Formats: sequence, C-alpha cells, structure tokens
Amino acid sequence: MTLVCSAQQPGHDHDKDGYDRGIVSPVTSVTVRVPAKLNLQLAVGPARDDGYHDLVTVFHAVSLFDEVTVAPADRDSVVVTGEGAGDVPADASNLAARAAAALLRVVGPGAADAPGLAIRIIKRIPVAAGLAGGSANAAATLVGCNELWRTGLRPQDLRELASGIGSDVAFALLGGSAIGTGRGERVTPALASGTFHWVLAFATGGLSTSDVYAACDRIRASRGLTVPEPALDNAIMAALRSGDPAALGPLLSNDLQQAAISLRPELRRALAAGRELGALGAMVSGSGPTCAFLARNLGHAQKLAAALTGAGVCRGVASVAGPVPGACVTADATEQA
Ligand code: C5P
Repeated sequence: MTLVCSAQQPGHDHDKDGYDRGIVSPVTSVTVRVPAKLNLQLAVGPARDDGYHDLVTVFHAVSLFDEVTVAPADRDSVVVTGEGAGDVPADASNLAARAAAALLRVVGPGAADAPGLAIRIIKRIPVAAGLAGGSANAAATLVGCNELWRTGLRPQDLRELASGIGSDVAFALLGGSAIGTGRGERVTPALASGTFHWVLAFATGGLSTSDVYAACDRIRASRGLTVPEPALDNAIMAALRSGDPAALGPLLSNDLQQAAISLRPELRRALAAGRELGALGAMVSGSGPTCAFLARNLGHAQKLAAALTGAGVCRGVASVAGPVPGACVTADATEQA
C-alpha cells in the first residue's frame, strides 16, 4: 500500500540505497490532497453498547478532493475556505486539528519544531454530505504532519491513530476500493478493475450522521425487525473486479438510505430522476444527503450531470471517477538555504 504519493521527501538527501545521509532542509509546509468516499455497499448491524453500529461496507474513493496544507507557526490556527467553509469549525474541535493533536500526543511535542501548527483547508467535498469530508481532512492532516515532523511512523501506525479520530479516517488514508468492518475503521484493500464514472448530486444543507443512524434504529424498531449481522455482498466484489458498471449498478445498496430519505423526503425525487435519466445505479451516499449515480462511461456521466442539473432536483452536481488513491502529499515547500 502506498500511503504518500511522493516517493522521496524533498529536502532529504537519500543515497540510492535509501539511507538518509542527514542533509536536511527544513520543510516549511506540506500540502496533501484527499478524496471523498462512496459506500458501494453499506450493511448496518444492530446498535452496539457503545452507540456505534457494526458495519460491513465497500468503500470507494472518488475524484472529488479537499486540499490540506500544514505549516509550522507561532500558534495553532485552522483556516477553511471553499465549499461549505462556513459550516466547518475553525478551532481545536475541527477534525483536522484533532488529528494533529492526536499525532503529537503519540510522537511527543518535541517532534514539532514550532510552538504551533497552521492548518489551511480548501474544501470541495461538501460538509455533512455523506462523503466523509471531515474524515478526509483528518486523514490529510495526519499524512501532512507525519511528513512535516518527520515522525517515521508507518502507515499502519497512522491507520491505528486514524480509527480513534473517526470511523472513515482510516479509509481516507488508504483510498482505492476497500472493505470496511467494525465501525468502518478496519479497512482491507479490495481489487477493482478499470474506472467507474459517477455523478454526485449535492443537496441543500447536510445531515448529521448520528441522526441518520438513530432514524435507521427507529425504523427498524417500529417494524419489529430482527437485524442480522452485516455481511459482505460477494456479487459487489465480483462486479468491482470485472470493472463492468452495468454489473455493479443494480447491486449498489445502502442500509441507511431509507433513514436518510425519512429525514429528507426530497431525496426520493432525486434518486428517481437519476434512474429515469439512465443511471445504471442510484443510491444515497453513506448517511446522505448526497445522491450518487453510476454512469456507463465518462461521456454518459457528463450527460447525466447536465440532465440532473436541468431536472432541478439538487443544489449542484459533480462528475467524478473512482477508485482514486487516498491522502497523498502533493507539495512540500522547503526553506531556501
Ligand atoms: O465515527 P464518526 O465520528 O464518523 O461517527 C459519527 C456518528 O455516526 C457516531 O457518533 C455514531 O452516532 C454514528 N455511527 C454509528 N456506527 C458507525 C459509524 C458511525 O452509529 N459504525
């Protein structure tokens, strides 16, 4: 698994045997790009004693990216710009700030060579949209600070830290397609062929993940349903391996979909519109309210995106592709000697 895209840290002088000879220019900032996720299957088990639900999910990272830059500073700060920035806390409660604090607790305050950390987040992933944007920002911050502070932590160390921050953070580190179990925090890479093209339809306003899980529990209780343990749909895994969108489309499933629709009935209209316009599959993404539509190919996705915009069933659309890699360093700035 490749956690960081850059094979070598700029500023470090490596011999061809890979050993660091100690000629180091201080890194002054690190920028990390991190994708949104879809759940191609989201099977939700009964509520656990800790309030969470055991899941079996098939994660799929798509090409809608946030960008996080971390830099040493005199004091801590979080600046958020872009899509839904006003709804993101710009203080220590921000998931990105919590990720940096968690990493610093593990490596010790001496790892940072400045008293504070400046975190700048450029958002394209809508907030509270079922696309794990907050988790993505936390994952990007872990990768960025790991590079900035040269902690030497391994990918599995970061994944362990990630699971304490949020259920989707470990997957945002990994990217690609993966099976998630436990709360979603235990991730195993899954095989996929080719590229799938999707249209995301964004709703006005967000949905609280815990509200959607609570609605799911209420619906199940009102029907007196015995909730089975969640299980992986092997047909979805085979469709992913085949790379055939026509095989994958009808198999998409989300146990939270009904709950999300119960809280936002207008989603039913958006899903129906996408199906009528020729989507191979239509689903609410995670806890919603974003809807995801599978297209035959890029051209079909672009047509579908235009038609959904025209249908007036959503606030905006994006044509994206998956799978894409998880959190990747895209730029290091180093102090000029
Ligand atoms: O882990 P994360 O902070 O993303 O979860 C947000 C909320 O979603 C949790 O507080 C919980 O209410 C709900 N959740 C759940 N079961 C999961 C994941 C999340 O009930 N497996």
